[in-house]
Amino acid sequence: MSLPLSSLSSAGRILLVDDDAQVRRVMERLLISEGYDVLQAGDGEAALLIAATEPIDTVVLDMGMPGLSGLDVCRRLRADPKHEHTPVVFVTGLDDRGFRREALQAGATDFLGKPFDEVELLARLRNSIRVKLYFDGLDRERSALRGAVEQHLGELEAATARLERLQRELAVARHETIDRLARAAEYRDDETAAHLHRMSAYCHLLGQKVGLDEYACEMLRIASPMHDVGKIGIPDQILLKPGRLSSDEYTIMKEHAEIGFRILSGSESELVRFAASIAHTHHEQWAGGGYPRGLQGEDIPLEGRIAAIADVFDALTSARPYKQAWPIADAVAHLEAGSGKHFDPNLTALFVRSMDDVLAIRERFHD
Ligand SMILES: [Fe+2]
Ligand SMILES: [Fe+2]
Repeated sequence: MSLPLSSLSSAGRILLVDDDAQVRRVMERLLISEGYDVLQAGDGEAALLIAATEPIDTVVLDMGMPGLSGLDVCRRLRADPKHEHTPVVFVTGLDDRGFRREALQAGATDFLGKPFDEVELLARLRNSIRVKLYFDGLDRERSALRGAVEQHLGELEAATARLERLQRELAVARHETIDRLARAAEYRDDETAAHLHRMSAYCHLLGQKVGLDEYACEMLRIASPMHDVGKIGIPDQILLKPGRLSSDEYTIMKEHAEIGFRILSGSESELVRFAASIAHTHHEQWAGGGYPRGLQGEDIPLEGRIAAIADVFDALTSARPYKQAWPIADAVAHLEAGSGKHFDPNLTALFVRSMDDVLAIRERFHD
């Protein structure tokens, strides 16, 4: 059995279809002597059987055969995707000339008169096979290209999936780190998780009331629980002292703002830098006299002024081991008395005016 053209030095593989065995023998001898690889079929059915399994470079097809006609065979060949581009050369006797147009419509690529001229036959076949090889080359290139594209797409998808997983991982890690950092400070103090939740929700609310966009409000919400992270650096005997602090102890206690700033500053994350600013400035006072730097008015970053109100209001209205919770009205009076002194007057007014929302938050995160 002969191998496909691509694996041999054969000039091409030709399927001869003719009911006249004598014609096939003559053609076969000629074609083999020219280096072609020849398959033969005595009728249309046999031709289609061979074509279904064998690679073929050109079909030489007799027009008039008993059983399936040459036209039928040609149409069926064309219906097989494998033979979409396989050249079909019709051998037409004088009587068949009228059918040439029909044959063309059926997918014929060339015609040869019968009795055939040897040189003409060889010339036609050489051209046909050249066309076939050209299409084969195109097919190979196309499938190689498709393979390469699919491979690259696959690699790209895998890389994208890895990147997405990493990004999710980073987002989770960032959130958790912030949360755990805030909790670390909370464990060292009498402040509760509920204080952090309320204080963070008040900051978010004030951000909205003062007209910050949702991104900035979200930053306030996430970053504000870290305001006292610097308490990690305050000795236990001062931080946990039940009674009043001496003035020396209070001086040390006040260092938590600077320590928190040092812990959080210099980050590549905007959020963490924002948290550093809150830790640094939440004890500054509008009229000056706060700590650690004694800033005044709008020199105190907005997030620090917001955090100051949220932090103090929640401290006043919460019970602690050593004190009762203040009544809301007293806490509001304290804020208003401190407006323009301790607190930004504009923010204080906004906060007091939003007392319904404030109390809803307080209700939601009670101790
Ligand atoms: Fe603080
Ligand atoms: Fe606090």
